[in-house]
Amino acid sequence: MYVALLTLLAPALATAIPAPHLYPEVFDRSASAAPSSISINGITYGGTGCPQGTLNASISDDGKILPLVFGDDFSASVGPNVAITESRKFCQINLDIDFSAGFQYAVYSADYIGYADLDSGVQASITALYYFSGQTAQVITEAEINGPFTGYYDKHDDIAIATWSPCGSQGLLNINSQIALTSSSDSQSGIVSTEKIKASFVHQLYIKWRSC
Ligand SMILES: *[C@@H]1O[C@H](CO)[C@@H](O)[C@H](O)[C@H]1NC(C)=O
Repeated sequence: MYVALLTLLAPALATAIPAPHLYPEVFDRSASAAPSSISINGITYGGTGCPQGTLNASISDDGKILPLVFGDDFSASVGPNVAITESRKFCQINLDIDFSAGFQYAVYSADYIGYADLDSGVQASITALYYFSGQTAQVITEAEINGPFTGYYDKHDDIAIATWSPCGSQGLLNINSQIALTSSSDSQSGIVSTEKIKASFVHQLYIKWRSC
């Protein structure tokens, strides 16, 4: 009787509940592949936010996380006695990444980790533009912090459309990171600075690979 009832119910259930995936979707091998060796071959950078000797870059062993660690110069501020030039800092970076042949990579999201102290009416905008040498396509990540705000922040932004490095064994990634503060009146103050304890601002890139 129990069996009969289940049999009776089965067709009704089949139409009411979306069919589960009986078979896994075709496994996309290329999406999860990564080169067996990945390293940073060289880095050049410059700008008001990153004088020589103030930026550290590294890449995780699996090639998926690339933290850029900035020093104290990557700080911006506004206020009654602060020069206008302090309201915006930028850093232009060229990263030369070497990897085993037959792959390409893309930046798909980023984290921004630091400290901010903003009056009401002050807005901080942290943006980064990414492009590969020899290609015109660019992608952007962006985070905003609105005053009043005092404390550490950890902002995340995803990139909707990937821009892939040229197929091969080398990808020259250009990154233009910028922090800018705007205020609605001259009396408001704000600062976006390096994380106080470690004295660093971290712009962490997330990278995906595929074979080509
Ligand atoms: C970069 O690394 C060096 C050596 O480990 C360290 O002394 C320096 O403080 C680091 N700079 C930043 C901005 O983290």
